Amino acid sequence: MAQSFDRHRRLRKSAAMRNLVRENHVRVEDLIYPLFVVEGTGIKNEIPSMPGVYQLSLDTLAEEMKEIVALGIQAVLMFGVPTHKDACGTEAYNDDAITQQAMRLIKEAHPEMIVIADTCLCEYTDHGHCGVIHEGEVVNDETLKLLGQTAVSQAKAGADIIAPSNMMDGFVIAIREALDEAGFEHIPIMSYAVKYASAFYGPFRDAAGSTPQFGDRKSYQMDAANAREGLREAASDVKEGADFLIVKPGLAFMDMVLRLRENFNLPIVAYNVSAEYSMVKAAALNGWIDEERIVMETLVGFKRAGADMIITYHAKDVAKWLAR
Ligand code: PBG
Repeated sequence: MAQSFDRHRRLRKSAAMRNLVRENHVRVEDLIYPLFVVEGTGIKNEIPSMPGVYQLSLDTLAEEMKEIVALGIQAVLMFGVPTHKDACGTEAYNDDAITQQAMRLIKEAHPEMIVIADTCLCEYTDHGHCGVIHEGEVVNDETLKLLGQTAVSQAKAGADIIAPSNMMDGFVIAIREALDEAGFEHIPIMSYAVKYASAFYGPFRDAAGSTPQFGDRKSYQMDAANAREGLREAASDVKEGADFLIVKPGLAFMDMVLRLRENFNLPIVAYNVSAEYSMVKAAALNGWIDEERIVMETLVGFKRAGADMIITYHAKDVAKWLAR
């Protein structure tokens, strides 16, 4: 009888056969784990909407780092949550601020750890916006200077990668020039190139205390409906000197991961953001889903879409599952 259809099932016959033909893998080296640091001692505050994620003081951070290193995670993304906040976010570029202290502490104890600094002002401003405000507007060019100063201060504190997330136009070139002038031409920039104004950041804003006190971020973060605009954003960042491109959020924007993969040859990073984590945790705590399978399917989805690495709050759990 003439064969009139394809037999795809031949390659799915056994676990070994499926292993043999598997196209994508999640490795512990692909994971970047976000950390939230606060002032004080003995603090380990669980974020109510993000079970298993904590605000840590320097001493509890030191403990946490030992666990992270033991799990084989080799990159962390730093968010500082200072007590003092003001209109210009001065704690962002104060060399002795909590974020800088935390980075120095990590690099001293674990020189091999890749410390990525989130470079933004929203955790440091009293109004919670990502830049300086004039007459109710976030002003672009004045904010760029402060971002440059923040990046230099973070590099001095030992940051291995600068990750600007505030979506001001020209932020990559402003930071590149500031870093180069300060002698940090070897420090790469991981740009939040395609970052949407998203409801998926809700739990993060509880963790970082960075909810805008008025208005929203729609005049600087992108409209969720736009894909071509994301390609323009990414093209600008590449032209300005970005070394990595981040897509954020990840899950509802996986098409953007693929589009960037197809259009640019830089490493692509997917940010599996806070509400993506919270939703999985909530359902898992209710016994409604198989957490491990849901998480692994999501992460391999990012890899399949073309991401080289993934920023995720699940990193510690994933490292444990992979080691098993
Ligand atoms: C901004 C920043 C945000 C996140 C990472 N960097 C919040 C925002 O833009 O409002 C969100 C990450 C998450 O939701 O996990 N500095």
